[in-house]
Amino acid sequence: MGAPSKQDGRSCLSRHKWKITILAFILVAVAIAVPLVIVKPWDKNNSNSSSNNSNNNGNNGNQPTGPVTPSNPGPISPNVPVLPSKNDTARANAYTPPLNEPFDYASGKIKMRGVNLGGWLVLEPFISPSLFEPYIKQGVIDEWTLCKLLGPEKAKTHLEAHYSTWVTEETFSRLQGMGINHVRIPIGFWALGGLTADEPYVPSLSWTYLLRGIEWARKYGIRVMVELHAAPGSQNGWNHSGRLGAINWINGTDGIANAQRTLPYLQQLATFFSSPDYIHVAPIMGLLNEPAAHLIGVDPVKSWYTEAMNVVRAATGTGEGKGPWAIIHDGMVGLNAWAGFLPKGDRVMLDTHQYIMFNDDLMRMNQTTQLKFACETWGGDMIRSTKGFGPTMVGEFSAAVNDCATYLNGIGAGYRWDGTYNGAPPKSPNSTCTNENNASTYTPEYKKFLSNYFLAQIEAFEQGGGWFYWNFKTESNPLWSYFAGVEGGWIPKDINNRGPSYCASAGYTFNG
Ligand SMILES: *[C@@H]1O[C@H](CO)[C@@H](O)[C@H](O)[C@H]1NC(C)=O
Ligand SMILES: *[C@@H]1O[C@H](CO)[C@@H](O)[C@H](O)[C@H]1NC(C)=O
Ligand SMILES: *[C@@H]1O[C@H](CO)[C@@H](O)[C@H](O)[C@H]1NC(C)=O
Ligand SMILES: *[C@@H]1O[C@H](CO)[C@@H](O)[C@H](O)[C@H]1NC(C)=O
Ligand SMILES: *[C@@H]1O[C@H](CO)[C@@H](O)[C@H](O)[C@H]1NC(C)=O
Ligand SMILES: *[C@@H]1O[C@H](CO)[C@@H](O)[C@H](O)[C@H]1NC(C)=O
Ligand SMILES: *[C@@H]1O[C@H](CO)[C@@H](O)[C@H](O)[C@H]1NC(C)=O
Repeated sequence: MGAPSKQDGRSCLSRHKWKITILAFILVAVAIAVPLVIVKPWDKNNSNSSSNNSNNNGNNGNQPTGPVTPSNPGPISPNVPVLPSKNDTARANAYTPPLNEPFDYASGKIKMRGVNLGGWLVLEPFISPSLFEPYIKQGVIDEWTLCKLLGPEKAKTHLEAHYSTWVTEETFSRLQGMGINHVRIPIGFWALGGLTADEPYVPSLSWTYLLRGIEWARKYGIRVMVELHAAPGSQNGWNHSGRLGAINWINGTDGIANAQRTLPYLQQLATFFSSPDYIHVAPIMGLLNEPAAHLIGVDPVKSWYTEAMNVVRAATGTGEGKGPWAIIHDGMVGLNAWAGFLPKGDRVMLDTHQYIMFNDDLMRMNQTTQLKFACETWGGDMIRSTKGFGPTMVGEFSAAVNDCATYLNGIGAGYRWDGTYNGAPPKSPNSTCTNENNASTYTPEYKKFLSNYFLAQIEAFEQGGGWFYWNFKTESNPLWSYFAGVEGGWIPKDINNRGPSYCASAGYTFNG
């Protein structure tokens, strides 16, 4: 999560047009040359937890040799430490087909109603501050600095304690009880190993937990979108890309090598999830979360996505039934920029993330205008994009109407809402964050507004293929927690039986 304003993106684009052209050229040139060398099936299974492997998933061939560098990555290997069940008969609810029957992503007739299992296999300070708080004084700001400070052994223990408790079987049974039919699971590239010597991430451990989570999803008939949330070099410089700071992906010294190095991960993931053991339960795959196209240029990011699609389809075969759908993200430049991209794409869906609290103009609108905006503008965006690009969905959004969540803007960064962020004035003279993270202080009127805002959004997003709430839970920020919303009464207890349409009753249309 964490999209800056789209205006910033546009001005940057025109300033950097010449760079885009050169980068696009280099990218295409390298794209042609490099994958032939590094996109190879590798023969050994070198992951940390390679015991009890039932499935090699194409890891036969030559491993790269010599020192591991961005252009000569180490072996990556999706092994199977958790054996897949063959039982795909479960059904999330009466509205969703059982796993072993197709979910019609192409027509969008059945809606994805999902949540993100965020802050799990990729850490984020505002979702689980307790993992970071003991180390903030020592300069920890992201997963990279956390792992680096702790060192391999302690980092592994620290992360494994979190992996094994943040998501459990109960998570899936609760979600099923709420009518949820999909989960989006962010992972980092380190889940598959292949790290350079200076990358401090814990390799391969999260993969085991991902597979265990997928088995629970299977049991409750919930479909999984596995998505690459963190690429080598960081595709957006945000903490949830693993490393806060400069973008060293397409951009930067190792940018081209890191962009290329991302492709074999996708190749391995696509191969793995095409297997009959996984294709029913994990039928959609996110190629990359929020690449910063607003900063590094739309054209190079499009070139990379084109190549990523080629790699994925080369791994799976082409045509319906041959492997997972591929989800591409709009790169924070808006859906319109993608109209006509990958015409007649083979099982491709576009993902956009909608938030009002990171954009000053949207956050400052009054509540009535925000509700109208969610129905009309976001609903219209979905309709236009479905016509102009094809299947489109919202992979992240929340009921948060302010940026008061602890650490949301960074540790000690302050909040737009109360006027403590970047010197901008507060939303209104008496706006305060004091009780915003304490749901028991919310008034009935406020909950009604949150409820309307939640409904306005999902109705808009269901003008496309559907939505995934960010996040299923948080340690302490209720506006970002689906579970807290259901408990607090601003998210319906059963999402498939939620009463009359908010947008229609308010007289708002979806202005395609
Ligand atoms: C691998 O299988 C053996 C025998 O079935 C079992 O004893 C062992 O615990 C398993 N190891 C792991 C890591 O699952
Ligand atoms: C298959 O899974 C479903 C749902 O989890 C369960 O109800 C059923 O008993 C399982 N069938 C078998 C043969 O294990
Ligand atoms: C792009 O890379 C350069 C060189 O490493 C770096 O200085 C700059 O901050 C990066 N741009 C972004 C937006 O991170
Ligand atoms: C909300 O803002 C809109 C647009 O600026 C304005 O027309 C409307 O009167 C405002 N409503 C309230 C209740 O302040
Ligand atoms: C983490 O990322 C969020 C979302 O992009 C961002 O708002 C925040 O500044 C970052 N937090 C820290 C502690 O750097
Ligand atoms: C804050 O001030 C606005 C008018 O500026 C008022 O409508 C609102 O009720 C006030 N809120 C609180 C919590 O006092
Ligand atoms: C949340 O608000 C309730 C009701 O005002 C109060 O009793 C409680 O102490 C608050 N919790 C926190 C963590 O501030």
